[in-house]
Amino acid sequence: MALIAQLTDPHLRDDGADPCHDPKAAMRQAFAKIAAMDRRPDAIVLTGDIIDRSAKGYAHAIPILREAPVPLVPLPGNHDDAAGFRTAFEDRAEFACDHLSFTMQIADLRLIALDTTLPDGRTGLDATRLDWLAGVLGNLQLPSLLALHHPPFPTLPLHLDEPGFQNAGALSRLLTDSSVRRIIAGHSHRAIQTVWAGRLASTAPAIGHGLSLSLTGMESKKPVRLAPAFDLHMTGLHENISHHMMLD
Ligand SMILES: [Fe+2]
Repeated sequence: MALIAQLTDPHLRDDGADPCHDPKAAMRQAFAKIAAMDRRPDAIVLTGDIIDRSAKGYAHAIPILREAPVPLVPLPGNHDDAAGFRTAFEDRAEFACDHLSFTMQIADLRLIALDTTLPDGRTGLDATRLDWLAGVLGNLQLPSLLALHHPPFPTLPLHLDEPGFQNAGALSRLLTDSSVRRIIAGHSHRAIQTVWAGRLASTAPAIGHGLSLSLTGMESKKPVRLAPAFDLHMTGLHENISHHMMLD
């Protein structure tokens, strides 16, 4: 069984204009909580939007991420810069040539990290990414955890789900009979759980600002104050348990 701390969406800015609380302080609170656990997680998986579009690069974020008390594994989100991300984190993961997806063994679990921001700015998976994933899943024996920034499943706030996840159906079909035990995502800035492709699937609450909830989709999304938090996933062949870890 692997123990994974999932942190997501810190939106670390370099201009101090955070819309709600200071995400750097929340990140450090999360690190302190993780460091104090009687069993430390095997890794922190950071599911994207590490910087905000206000930032020019990663120079302001890297020193904070280096404070992590356990190995930190970064995924890209739609607010990240693909070229800058590859350069900033090439020492932390072996990225695919054409996109920023990768796999990594963590304890007895295989992490599959999918880059779901397409070159044209849309959300989801293209043929290149689907082919890459099919190759990964075809050679996999270990129980695995699929991590991605954008949830491929409906989350019901219609203003968050638009404009949709390209090729979600193809992804669901690839997961059939695969070793994937659990699906985790970010992007929604809210804690949401569902069952999708026959598996437990969720989005984690954000380290950065929250996002408003409009179940009718009539109101546009906007930053709101929600308590920052992270998720703790115990995932293995026989375990599939998650906890929310609230911060102040
Ligand atoms: Fe975000």
